[in-house]
Amino acid sequence: MSVLGKKILLIISGGIAAYKALELIRLIKKSGRGVTVVMTKSAKQFVTPLSVAALSENKVYEELFSLTDEAEMGHISLSRENDLILVMPATANILAKLAHGIADDLPTTLLLATDSPILVAPAMNVRMWESPATQNNMSILRKNGIGFIGPVEGDMACGEFGFGRLSDPDDILVALNEFFAPAVKVLTGKKLLITAGPTHEPIDPVRFLGNLSSGKQGYALAVAARDAGAIVTLITGPSNEVIPLGVNAVKVTTAEQMLDAVNQALPVDIAIFAAAVADWKIADYSDKKIKKQVGDEIKTLSFVENPDILKTISNLKNNRPKLVVGFAAETDNVIDNAKAKIKRKGCDLMIVNDVSPKTGIMGGDHNKISLIKLNDEQIEHWDLASKTQIAKQIIEYIGRIKDE
Ligand code: CTP
Repeated sequence: MSVLGKKILLIISGGIAAYKALELIRLIKKSGRGVTVVMTKSAKQFVTPLSVAALSENKVYEELFSLTDEAEMGHISLSRENDLILVMPATANILAKLAHGIADDLPTTLLLATDSPILVAPAMNVRMWESPATQNNMSILRKNGIGFIGPVEGDMACGEFGFGRLSDPDDILVALNEFFAPAVKVLTGKKLLITAGPTHEPIDPVRFLGNLSSGKQGYALAVAARDAGAIVTLITGPSNEVIPLGVNAVKVTTAEQMLDAVNQALPVDIAIFAAAVADWKIADYSDKKIKKQVGDEIKTLSFVENPDILKTISNLKNNRPKLVVGFAAETDNVIDNAKAKIKRKGCDLMIVNDVSPKTGIMGGDHNKISLIKLNDEQIEHWDLASKTQIAKQIIEYIGRIKDE
């Protein structure tokens, strides 16, 4: 699926994230489509029109009252002859103008004059994003039918952390594809359960045993499954990801709580176990904080095994989902270990990823996976892609094999 055959007008407004527009232009071009770019005056403080023109291989428009531009195209034509206008990055300022119909330069005049759909990818400091003024403007824009891509949570250029970060160009491309070619409803009416994130196993009231899983892949699967028409229950360990709209979410902390929540969500048609469940819990939880005492020996912790949720559900006599999907997180002998794991667990499909630190997959935004089916010698290897894109592909794949 690509944005092929559709015309995009990209408006770059002036924020530090403007440099990422160059990467997006490259991705749109690579997907086989041209893009026309309009820049605000302040965008030119961050990226040069020359770089934008070179990458887009197109004229860059900047001025409202440009005699040559008006003679060639005219701003009304420029606003109309595209299938979509995308504002990326969208600053608080341009969102405010768009919400209130202010047209005081070329980009805002185009936004007011257009009859094409508008998508915006906001990017700003977390306080600016959370300010009542921006949030009120967002409500107006939503009411006016403007579509949003992000923002997401993360580190900011200003050193703060929170919401307001621009979505990755990869994910913006996925959103464009979704806009032009909405997900095929391959799972309409199917009940689907997904586990995601890490589990935390408490040691005492202030400490726990955990792992580096962010939950991103599981949450992206929940979104993709929802978009494919499934009725989704997301059972999630502690994660900073935002619960997707239209998904039933159950928040848990430990592996045992996760197993209980899974059992309660049954029966389902399909279950995907993307959580990084702690294999062990502490044998002797201390209900008081364990104190460090001078001269004491270093405390030894003992562990007991946690329930294996994937194995338990794969081996159910009653209520087993028709399709059970596991994830194999491996750091060495990746394929051999995963082949052994699918047999040991008894699931139907294993999604394998190499989580050794050099790959940056654990906690990162991208994933590279292989797929192994039980009793099938053939293994599929997929290219590196954003977790959002991988999730879409996995759901499409599940849609194809669910009735086998
Ligand atoms: N899993 C689970 N319950 C557990 C452990 C793992 O449901 N207690 C699931 C995971 O959600 C994943 C699959 O089992 O779908 C494999 O997880 P992974 O961590 O790769 O394997 P482990 O079973 O923990 O085995 P090992 O640590 O030996 O690799």
